[in-house]
Amino acid sequence: MTHPLEQLRDDALREIDCASDEQTLETARIKFLGKSGSISRWGEEMRTLGKDQKPIVGKLLNEVRNAVTAALESRAASFRSRMESEALGKIDISLPGTTHEIGALHPLTQMWQRSIEIFRRMGFALADGPDIEDEWHCFDALNTPPEHPARNEQDTFYLPDGRLLRTHTSTVQIRTMQAAPPPIRVIAPGAAYRRDELDATHSPQFHQIEGLYVDDNVSVADLKGALEFFMRELFGAETEVQFRPHYFPFTEPSLEIYVKSKALKGGEQWVEVAGSGIVHPGVFEAVNKTRGDNAYDPEKWTGYAFGLGMDRLAMILFDIPDIRLFAQNDLRFLRQFA
Ligand code: PHE
Repeated sequence: MTHPLEQLRDDALREIDCASDEQTLETARIKFLGKSGSISRWGEEMRTLGKDQKPIVGKLLNEVRNAVTAALESRAASFRSRMESEALGKIDISLPGTTHEIGALHPLTQMWQRSIEIFRRMGFALADGPDIEDEWHCFDALNTPPEHPARNEQDTFYLPDGRLLRTHTSTVQIRTMQAAPPPIRVIAPGAAYRRDELDATHSPQFHQIEGLYVDDNVSVADLKGALEFFMRELFGAETEVQFRPHYFPFTEPSLEIYVKSKALKGGEQWVEVAGSGIVHPGVFEAVNKTRGDNAYDPEKWTGYAFGLGMDRLAMILFDIPDIRLFAQNDLRFLRQFA
């Protein structure tokens, strides 16, 4: 004689087998194994059974429950795999795939990498400093008095708290000397900011590489040698380099650097590419004061510093007519440097 539970199991298995989709399968599950499903209800029934019947029916109930659960799972799995293969069937594997374009380095980044590589060969290490600076690092320590025009709000971006966006990377000279005694030989690539009107040759954000070399007996000849070497490595051996007297508060003497090269488009013109000079003793003294020692004794140490305009160098090297192109993110422009 078949037990009613066995009958229920057979009914359930048949319904599961016949279920044509997930919806009917779920209906069958609720009907037999749901909270008040016909198999589940046997759990209640157990309490009314006698001692001898309980274990027999209990075991049967377990078997029935397991068999029905397994059947539900395998039917659900077969629905899932049917759906997957239907979806895959719609894909034409003979179609070409989606191409992913590989990016390239921005021309300014390329310029930086080339420049850094040349300076590294001359023994310069990399240094760094923040774009948001205080007036002391940007001006006072660099021998630039409060009445200097660069300290005017018309020329410099000030933050409400009195800090500012550095107007040049020369701030890193100061930070480097505060952090370590001489000898020093560093370059510091980075952005600088001035309140210039945006046009083809001016941008309120531009880029520089600062250089600082402090040792005994550093002279203008060392400065000229290093920068001539740099320019010829960058622009070609026939590049002419000119040093013209200038004024910066933090160097004495100060020199502006111009280059001319036939290899470059418009090569007949002298172009200004850097400011430079011999570090002013007042800069060493300002550093000593905050260091609390005489590590940069101006009687003992000398140094040269320079600031190269990276945008300008890249514009010359790559024949770029307009500085705004660097920041416009126009792929037609950027692709030419890939
Ligand atoms: N800081 C100067 C500028 O931005 C350049 C410079 C750097 C000049 C170091 C002399 C020495 O114009």
